[in-house]
Amino acid sequence: MSWRKGRRSSSEKTIAVLPGDGIGPEVIRAALAVLNVISELFQERFQTIDALIGGAALAATGVPLPEETLQACQRADAILLGAVGGPQWDALPLHERPETGLVQLRKKLELYANLRPIRPLPMLQDVCTLKEQVISGVDLVIVRELTGGLYCGPRWTTAGDGFEAALDSEFYTASQIERIARVAFSLARSRKKKVTSVDKANVLASSQLWRKTVERTGKCFPDVSLVHMYVDNCALQLVRNPRQFDVILTSNLFGDILSDEAACLEGSVGMLPSLCRGDRAILVEPVHGAAPDLAGKDQASPLGAIRCISMMLGEAFGRLEEAAFVEAAIASTLSRGYRTVDIAGTHSVVVGTSKMAELICREIRLMLEERGGSA
Ligand code: IPM
Ligand code: MN
Repeated sequence: MSWRKGRRSSSEKTIAVLPGDGIGPEVIRAALAVLNVISELFQERFQTIDALIGGAALAATGVPLPEETLQACQRADAILLGAVGGPQWDALPLHERPETGLVQLRKKLELYANLRPIRPLPMLQDVCTLKEQVISGVDLVIVRELTGGLYCGPRWTTAGDGFEAALDSEFYTASQIERIARVAFSLARSRKKKVTSVDKANVLASSQLWRKTVERTGKCFPDVSLVHMYVDNCALQLVRNPRQFDVILTSNLFGDILSDEAACLEGSVGMLPSLCRGDRAILVEPVHGAAPDLAGKDQASPLGAIRCISMMLGEAFGRLEEAAFVEAAIASTLSRGYRTVDIAGTHSVVVGTSKMAELICREIRLMLEERGGSA
């Protein structure tokens, strides 16, 4: 079939694979199964390098982000991360927690822009807790700043001798705000040309700087409309009238909270992929986190991680066709009624993590055969 003929053999891509904790390893295994099928059918070569992060790294090396992992990530064309964290580390001070490994990795690689697309699939309407007229047609992206704000500002805790107190601080520079705003405006340009910048400028000084800087940056994008919204109102609008949004631009903490809220538009947080990028590195990670209660049970949804493969193929490697195949295979597998437990409806066939991946792999093969392009 002509669409595959004459395809130039592509250069090999290196992917650093960081499964991490909880359901991380099992969803990453599922995602890699899909990547393998893509690799085979599209004759693409991917070299994967496994590395430790989070609790898995703490157990093996005593630190949540070993130097070796950082180097593997720096050398790779893209990084695929599962999840970090779990209750066994709850009592530890922050610098010894698994999550610190991820926050440090984002910071060290300057992965300042986190893209979290929300596009509800029509066949999951039955498991969504919101009404169809609220959900239908929703297509938004949360652009979350990832290297500043409350996650990275100065912090301290008192030693605990009588007076107990702790401080975290929301710290942003104008240049940090400007660079993330540019990502949001450029993205909006290729979409519905609307940026909603979310802050708390009626209370926070950092938000006042945020608003002023976004406003100024927006002047360079006169074709994109800009709306400012307080974060409390945005939380309401996301479930009241989510269709009003195109690109939501927001800070590190607000983006973390709003993206979990927005997950309910898709039916489950298990569905959501995300892509983090800086000027030199790209990392993909599902939004769901470690979900320790599901770990090791082969029940977690691999769809967030599999959609990460699609984001990596499309946005990091420019393989738009392959990315589209992965997305289409997910949609068609769900349309056939196969569901993981988090999105199980009344007439669905509930399958586990590895089975769902297997079904999606089969679907990719079938779709390719139907197009007459079998390998
Ligand atoms: C996320 C996660 C992380 C975050 C944690 C695990 C550090 O919740 O990617 O949304 O808060 O950024
Ligand atoms: Mn989160």
